[in-house]
Amino acid sequence: MGKQLPASELKRDESLRVVDNRTGKEYTVPITNNSIPANFFKGIRAAAGPNDRPEDETERGLRVADRGFLNTAVIESHITYIDGDNGVLRYRGYPIEQLAERSNFLEVSYLLIYGALPSASQLSHFTSEVLLHGPIHSDAEGFFRAFRYDAHPMSMLTSAFAYLGSYYGEANPSLQGQDLFTKAAKGDPVALQNMDRQIFRLIGKATTLAAMAYRIRQGRDFVVPPTGMSYAESFLYQLDHLSPTDHLSELHSTKPHPVLVKALDILFILHADHEMNASSTTVLQTGSSLPDPFSAVAAGCASLYGPLHGGANEAVIRMLISIGSPKNVPAFLEAVKKRQKVLSGFGHRVYKTSDPRSFIIRKVADEVFAVTGRDPLLDTAMALHDAALKDDYFVSRKLAPNVDFWSGLIYRAMGFPMDFFPVLFVVPRVVGWVAHWRQMMLSPSGVKIWRPRQLYLGPSTRDYVPLEERTSAFQVGVGMEPSVIEHSGMTKRRKLAEAAGKVRSKL
Ligand code: CMC
Repeated sequence: MGKQLPASELKRDESLRVVDNRTGKEYTVPITNNSIPANFFKGIRAAAGPNDRPEDETERGLRVADRGFLNTAVIESHITYIDGDNGVLRYRGYPIEQLAERSNFLEVSYLLIYGALPSASQLSHFTSEVLLHGPIHSDAEGFFRAFRYDAHPMSMLTSAFAYLGSYYGEANPSLQGQDLFTKAAKGDPVALQNMDRQIFRLIGKATTLAAMAYRIRQGRDFVVPPTGMSYAESFLYQLDHLSPTDHLSELHSTKPHPVLVKALDILFILHADHEMNASSTTVLQTGSSLPDPFSAVAAGCASLYGPLHGGANEAVIRMLISIGSPKNVPAFLEAVKKRQKVLSGFGHRVYKTSDPRSFIIRKVADEVFAVTGRDPLLDTAMALHDAALKDDYFVSRKLAPNVDFWSGLIYRAMGFPMDFFPVLFVVPRVVGWVAHWRQMMLSPSGVKIWRPRQLYLGPSTRDYVPLEERTSAFQVGVGMEPSVIEHSGMTKRRKLAEAAGKVRSKL
């Protein structure tokens, strides 16, 4: 419950007074939850000024510019809270530290999606539904086998989620009607069941698809999700199990190592949600046009994959390998300061102090290293970490280690290939994505398509010029015409062949 406010504060005028100096008009903008509605500013209009272009649409009201969503709240959410200045992360009000220490991944998933810690029977129902939905149609084997032997696992996983949607016509608003899920907000129990069924499928099959993407690279047969194991344990089993005919089967068909299972479970908890990060925003942006949730999750995968987001843990390891040893750390940091290099695993849009997950993860790292052996890159990582935290360049910019600084080292110690690291992030983040998607579908005010505005700075209206009248003046500036690219030998030969008897194009 919130604290009792003093009477003087209760009476406080929750509004902002704005004067438009172009017109002298004054406006009172309501403040709700310490935010002002961007749409209010659309009502602030003025006649076009001498420097305004028609494309500025001055008479049609002010736009709010926020490149990169630095200070725009796009949803009202009840799920996750981050206080970036104080290094706080809470899921539904529960501190991440308590959840990592005392809960488990599927219980945290329940909490994120349904809003409260489950009773024993609620947890048992949810757990059995998720695990029951792990197996996938055997046709999917053909889908995975269609990839090249060296395909990046994220290419496979991203496509696999979209592919999964093709199985479930009943979950597709394009086929069933656009209110298929949103009518759950009006109390339709069938719509709610349909939504939750897709959620069980998405979480249950995330490990199955991820393991398939892994095993196709290893040239091994796929493993049917086992029964009687926890989510993280089942995932490790699906990755590592060898067939009974294999001579190592005795050794490898045993249950995964409990320390690694526990470590993965904690890592899954830490990665399950992080409010409006790039990929969750992408899932909601995609979901706002009401496609099936599998397509929205595939879009989330694509967004997560980039090195500024979920690809950062892979980038950290590549960076540590390139630094080579602690003695090279000062030179590396100098290169970062000259903007010749990037210090991956440092900095965050929201955290302006250490990411709270990074403390938990360091403890997990020690537990993992105790069974797997210490990664030699750790010395370089520690030297880099300590030097950056003492350096004014990073301190003044409030750049501190984020979760990815350490997670890659754990994944590496556990024996995962580097390009699989983002997959290990996607699997738990599916939970955050579906929690946000479900919350949006259940919004009492309905779903609004996410259609942002732009500031158009391009040419004003101009008339078409016939080809023969165009001069080279049409091509100005870097990037304003297609690049000249190198071609393969095969293309060169083909072009030569095509050119026989004609004027030859430049090779
Ligand atoms: N190394 C060196 N300088 C940095 C870094 C970094 N990792 N991050 C930010 N800065 C500098 C940046 O150049 C800018 O300096 P100046 O004010 O002189 O121009 C200042 O710090 C503010 O940074 P910003 O670019 O405005 O920050 P942002 O909020 O736009 O970007 C970020 C956030 C996470 C993309 C960025 O910090 C970054 O690229 N970090 C490295 C990649 C990384 O570790 N990503 C994982 C994030 S956590 C997990 C997740 O979200 O998936």
